[in-house]
Amino acid sequence: MIEIRGVWKTFNQPVLRGLDLTIPAGCLYGLIGPGASGKSVLIKSIVGLMRPERGQIIVDGQDILQLSELELQSFRTRFGIAFQNNALFDHLTVNENIAFPLRRLYKNMTEQQVMQRVADRLNVVSLSTFGDRMPANLSGGQKKRVGVARATVANAPILLYDEPAAGLDPVTSQKIFDLLKQEKGDATVLMVSSDLDRLLTVTDRVGMIYQGRMIFDGTTKEAQESTDPYVKQFVHGLVEGPL
Ligand SMILES: Nc1ncnc2c1ncn2[C@@H]1O[C@H](COP(=O)(O)OP(=O)(O)OP(=O)(O)O)[C@@H](O)[C@H]1O
Ligand SMILES: [Mg+2]
Repeated sequence: MIEIRGVWKTFNQPVLRGLDLTIPAGCLYGLIGPGASGKSVLIKSIVGLMRPERGQIIVDGQDILQLSELELQSFRTRFGIAFQNNALFDHLTVNENIAFPLRRLYKNMTEQQVMQRVADRLNVVSLSTFGDRMPANLSGGQKKRVGVARATVANAPILLYDEPAAGLDPVTSQKIFDLLKQEKGDATVLMVSSDLDRLLTVTDRVGMIYQGRMIFDGTTKEAQESTDPYVKQFVHGLVEGPL
């Protein structure tokens, strides 16, 4: 379970403004919200890459804001993360990018086991023949899929996906969502996406962030049926509305 309480994160201006959010264990939680509302800042805060100045982010009973940089490094192995900008290592092949979390986490895995697992992930994201490529020689959508393969390679108990399907064609996009749901297992998943129609096909719960606070949190059905004008505007993509 992830419990976020009263989190404030300020750059020039406050971005997260006392944000509260509970993601139950084993839930596939979809986070929506307008651009620049703090979604990526929230994801980076949950894994300790950004340090909010106030509040608590409790993961498996531990407030990660209380951990030192060193403690955070080992805590971070619980997360599988796909960043919005992919954050692939430019100097490593696709194979080595995907193998990276495995090599760091499971030091006793044989080379053959690592490569088998990598091949399995490449197959799942339909990039079987791309293992030896460098990231610079991939399309935007292919990089996204490598990011997804890397995030899921180590069976981490908490998975964070920031726009995992952005920029992909509709068919590939739906495939990625289905894949992420199918591969979820017992993991707790937080998924940020602007592709709301597809997001809602896989989520258990959804939340909406607006100006650094949650203005909606409920089941997928509750979101679809909400009469709140902000939520309605967002869920139904209305041009007219309060936002
Ligand atoms: N490192 C940083 N330094 C200064 N400001 C930042 C930094 N990171 C994010 N911000 C600001 O915080 C706000 C929220 O950014 P964030 O990336 O979380 O938005 P988002 O909700 O993920 O938007 P999008 O849907 O476009 O990805 C923005 O105004 C952004 O400019
Ligand atoms: Mg973002």
